[in-house]
Amino acid sequence: MTPTRETFGNIPPSSQALFYLVAAVSLGVGAIGFWRRVRRWRQGQPIPPPALAAEALGNLLARWRPGLRRLWVEGLGQQRVRGRGLSSWAHGSLFIGFLVLLLGTTLLEVDHLAGMVSEKLHFHHGAYYVGYEFTLDVLGLVFLLGTALFFGRRLRRPASVGHRTTDWYVLGSFLTIGVTGYVVEALRITWQRPVGLGAWCSPVGWALASVFRGLSELQARHWHLAVWWLHALLVFGFLAAIPYTRLLHILTGPLNLLCAPPAVGFLAPVTTAEAEAAGRLGVRDLRHFTWQQLMSLDACMECGRCEEACPATATAKPLSPKRLVQDLRGLLDGLAPGGAGDPSSGNEERFNVHARIAAETLWSCTACSACGFVCPVRVDPLRLILDLRRNLVAEGGLRGTAAVVLRRLQASGNPWGLPPEARTDWMRGRNPPASVGQPTS
Ligand code: HEM
Ligand code: SF4
Ligand code: SF4
Repeated sequence: MTPTRETFGNIPPSSQALFYLVAAVSLGVGAIGFWRRVRRWRQGQPIPPPALAAEALGNLLARWRPGLRRLWVEGLGQQRVRGRGLSSWAHGSLFIGFLVLLLGTTLLEVDHLAGMVSEKLHFHHGAYYVGYEFTLDVLGLVFLLGTALFFGRRLRRPASVGHRTTDWYVLGSFLTIGVTGYVVEALRITWQRPVGLGAWCSPVGWALASVFRGLSELQARHWHLAVWWLHALLVFGFLAAIPYTRLLHILTGPLNLLCAPPAVGFLAPVTTAEAEAAGRLGVRDLRHFTWQQLMSLDACMECGRCEEACPATATAKPLSPKRLVQDLRGLLDGLAPGGAGDPSSGNEERFNVHARIAAETLWSCTACSACGFVCPVRVDPLRLILDLRRNLVAEGGLRGTAAVVLRRLQASGNPWGLPPEARTDWMRGRNPPASVGQPTS
């Protein structure tokens, strides 16, 4: 007998119809949540549009190549997630398990739809079926292993990692989705009683089926339908929750990898005309950031890598790049169109970033770029800091020695407050080596 199984085997037509209805509702809830985030990003500054229409396809590809490469190497290849011990292994397992299970479920649905067109189009049988079932059975364990490792880490509550109550829901739903998936499979094996390869290709489900050996076929069918529903509802709950939990990074992470500028900590040049037209320099209000910078705030999953790399944090300065990104994200949460931050609400000051982030925090940054280089989703805290600092300087918010130096440079071009021609006096009699000031090879 050719090994196979019916896609909605034991699921009555009424349950199938309800299944698609609940699927549509959960995707709708997820889509609304995501759209609400997009509306916040859209309040950021547009990035100067490239002359896209005028560009030839080759130029377009050249423009997007770095982003596509990052998607491939750092998104799919998880390059920057690796190298952090157990948490990297946990994410690797979760990531690969999730992608394979997602692909498998999609293929199952494709087979189901193809079968509705013509029985001949079914491909879920024979060698393909055996390979499919075996792969998903094993990768389900990998997925569960990753989830369990993350559970263990959350129980230890390391200080560098952010903690939210919803994290328990995310990991709890992954764990129960994995376990109920295996129970559904075991109950299906119990009532279907496949033999030979058709049974052995699901080693975990087959082993678990021995627990249900005492059930009659009818009982197994009843339980199968009940646990199938529980499993489906858990999956739909997870889909709907994506934009409202840390899982948002599943969408915003790849998006930011695609759209982030190639250079870390890049301070965009501004002409006098541009500054006059905008009526400001740098960022004062949250909406002065570009939409990509606002989106990047939603990509941060509080992994703490930037904080661990930051020399300012390490030397107990009042700066943590992770905290800074999260504080800005807190402001972004309030930036709902029509909400308190909407210009029409007359409460614009609420989004004054300087009221939220202390100047001392911004000046604690050494501009070393380490945070941007380690971030797995290319959030760039340094660029956020530089834009905010630029505004502080432009609005006279600079204090102390740095302010005095800038004032003197503006007045006479000499940082010591002496006449311009005395600027190089300090070198007199010091005989600097001939190589000073020469370009290095
Ligand atoms: C571009 C793709 C992705 C990147 C770069 C990425 C990166 C990360 C990073 C760096 C963390 C923090 C882990 C740590 O602290 O070391 C994380 C957490 C997490 N990721 Fe992803 N991720 C991606 C896609 C996904 C996908 C597709 C899933 C689906 C299952 C996922 C599920 C999770 C979960 C559940 C956590 C939180 C675990 C916890 O409770 O701490 N990620 N991700
Ligand atoms: S650039 Fe600034 S915030 Fe980033 S790691 Fe260096 S000191 Fe820390
Ligand atoms: S900014 Fe990047 S490195 Fe820092 S906590 Fe967020 S995701 Fe992690």
